[in-house]
Amino acid sequence: MRTLTGIQPSGTLHIGNYFGAMRPAIEAQTRGECFYFIADYHSMTTVTDPEERRRHTLGVALDWLACGLDPARSVFWRQSDVPEVTELAWILGTLTPMGLLERAHSYKDKTARGISPNFGLFAYPVLMAADILLYDTRRVPVGRDQKQHLEMTRDIAIKFNQTYGETLVVPEAEIREDLAVIPGVDGQKMSKSYGNTIDLFGDEKALRKRIMGIVMDSRPPAEPKPDADRNLALQLLRLFAPADVARDFEDRLRAGGLGYGDLKKALFEHYWNTFAAARARRAELAANRDHVEAVLREGAGRARKVAREVLGRVRRASGLE
Ligand code: ADP
Ligand code: TRP
Repeated sequence: MRTLTGIQPSGTLHIGNYFGAMRPAIEAQTRGECFYFIADYHSMTTVTDPEERRRHTLGVALDWLACGLDPARSVFWRQSDVPEVTELAWILGTLTPMGLLERAHSYKDKTARGISPNFGLFAYPVLMAADILLYDTRRVPVGRDQKQHLEMTRDIAIKFNQTYGETLVVPEAEIREDLAVIPGVDGQKMSKSYGNTIDLFGDEKALRKRIMGIVMDSRPPAEPKPDADRNLALQLLRLFAPADVARDFEDRLRAGGLGYGDLKKALFEHYWNTFAAARARRAELAANRDHVEAVLREGAGRARKVAREVLGRVRRASGLE
């Protein structure tokens, strides 16, 4: 059972990304074959600075490897190192109704936000379908925002099979409704677009300042806080501290006597220590770029073997060969 997912090289990852996407993906490695790739072709629909693309591609590779993506177990590559995906995207595009793409939420959202639309942005779901179908993928774990793209992928695969005979595996989306939405330092959903993130890796001083700056109410420390479970710093602390430690802080908030500054200090320490080992691994990897490049190339080689086989099937079925 092959699981596949794509990760956009869209900048510095935060703890929302970690708990919502990375940790489940890393855990999935123990349950079956995983194919994970960095979607650099997709990033071209919105980012046009080559240096920015290179930096983010490397950054995302470092983040994932540091957090436990194991290249001995999983296939990890850069999308553009397997250019067969663009040929499949073209073939699938010829079977994709305009109306299907015109209904895409992500396209409508991006154009509404003022991104000037190009063909690539419009065709984004077709390339994503090619990513998935090129590897005979069965399961695609994604966030809720990608649900429609997965439905489109299934529609396109079914259309191909109806037109040219059974060729492509029709995948299932694995939408993670059960995963909590991690709040940012302002209490809204943590998102890089809201400037409220706690990054996974970064400068200690700046991150400490971020956490100490979490906005709290103005009740004095001595006052009991019967609503302690709604406290934002406590909610975040629960992600990092052992359950008994978090419970102890909750009790002290309820009883009165615990200052918010002390709670935030504890939050920072637990957060910082949680990623200490990953931080050290990331620094090692960052100093050894050749190794990271070799991992991605080796992954691309493994991915490409599958890609060539599936594309061969597609070319024969459709009369290109
Ligand atoms: P952002 O909102 O910062 O732009 P992305 O949309 O790039 O993040 O999300 C990448 C992955 O991280 C997705 O799978 C998404 O579901 C997950 N994710 C992002 N923010 C959160 C959050 N606050 N809580 C849980 N998961 C999140
Ligand atoms: N569109 C996905 C996102 O923005 C990234 C992506 C590209 C992807 N190709 C994929 C995800 C294939 C799953 C499968 O998060």
